[in-house]
Amino acid sequence: MPRDFPAHVRDVYRIDLSGRYLGEPIPHPIGKGSGQLSLNVGQLETDAEAGLAFAVLKTVIAQDAAGAQSMAAWAIHETKMKVERRGAGWTVTWKGRGWDRSFDDYLALVRAGRDIREAGRLLTVPSVKYHLPRLDEPFREAEYAFTTRALASAWGASPLLLEKDFSPTLAGDALADEKQQILRWLREVPQRIRAHADVRLAMKLMNARFDDDFQREMMEAASSAAALVVFNRLFDSNAGVAFGGSELSNRNLRVLARLTPGASPGIPELSGTGNIHSGRLIVEYALRGCSSVQLHTFFQLPLEEYPATDGSRTQRALHALVFDPRDGLIAVLLEREAAGALERRGGELHFLDLLPNAHRPR
Ligand SMILES: Cc1cc2nc3c(=O)[nH]c(=O)nc-3n(C[C@H](O)[C@H](O)[C@H](O)COP(=O)(O)O)c2cc1C
Repeated sequence: MPRDFPAHVRDVYRIDLSGRYLGEPIPHPIGKGSGQLSLNVGQLETDAEAGLAFAVLKTVIAQDAAGAQSMAAWAIHETKMKVERRGAGWTVTWKGRGWDRSFDDYLALVRAGRDIREAGRLLTVPSVKYHLPRLDEPFREAEYAFTTRALASAWGASPLLLEKDFSPTLAGDALADEKQQILRWLREVPQRIRAHADVRLAMKLMNARFDDDFQREMMEAASSAAALVVFNRLFDSNAGVAFGGSELSNRNLRVLARLTPGASPGIPELSGTGNIHSGRLIVEYALRGCSSVQLHTFFQLPLEEYPATDGSRTQRALHALVFDPRDGLIAVLLEREAAGALERRGGELHFLDLLPNAHRPR
């Protein structure tokens, strides 16, 4: 598994795997979603070595200069994760929430990520959960100001690339009972963040406890962001846990399919997340507008689930996603070419040509 596998794929198959995440060109579309697999420098080093395209750091809970966190309920400690089968797929059962160490520790991780990024090895992007008010309350500007400025300074370049997480546990919280309240957050949060630094923002949308139409409304409300990550895990309110698996990808793909190509003006760049465990699933998300994907669960399967017998988990996962002879990215792109659904340009097939016209990066 060569680290520069996109160059190998281009040479051997004449396939250009290039993708795009938050406006940045990336060598292929596969990144790591925010979570327990991007908590420390060791994990980022391993991912850089494996040739991952980007990694979103664990979500930190915003704070003001005095350290007060309105969303402190999300900064809780829980380490034990259980990787379990769910239907035909996998889910991770875990009761934890956001970053549970100090904000200074998080800034140190952002700075380490900057060094790795500046060396051209891996694009690393921080993620935040900021204060979300009730309808009759104002936003706590002090949290937005302090956290955004500190991250921008640690990130060390302009613009700061940033994700704002609306998590499944938030979807399950009483705060998210009201549609109008959620829509206000999505409309107003981007400007609250951008007021304090030059930020290119991705909004990671939750699966709210409402219908598909409302998911669509959420996308429109958040469309002043530079990108949308669609959509975080589902929430099981009986068990009190978030979950993934095929129910998650079915819902996400169903909602994304409702975006009419060419007739969804203003929907920004999309990054797909949810039960992506094959190149075929990556293609399903791309056909619905996603120029990159963010995986978590597939990077933490038992080792015997990957066909490769050597390398880090990240490498083994990338190997399966790209090279699997039936469901890998290469196989599925060639299959679409044979079916007349994808054409070569300049002798090459291009991953980004899968996207509907309206979603292709200009
Ligand atoms: C254990 C665990 C922790 C996670 N923590 C975060 C988080 O802190 N912030 C966030 O934006 N997403 C978080 N996620 C969501 C993942 O980034 C991803 O979007 C989601 O799990 C769907 O992808 P998957 O089906 O490949 O796991 C977490 C997921 C898992 C399984």
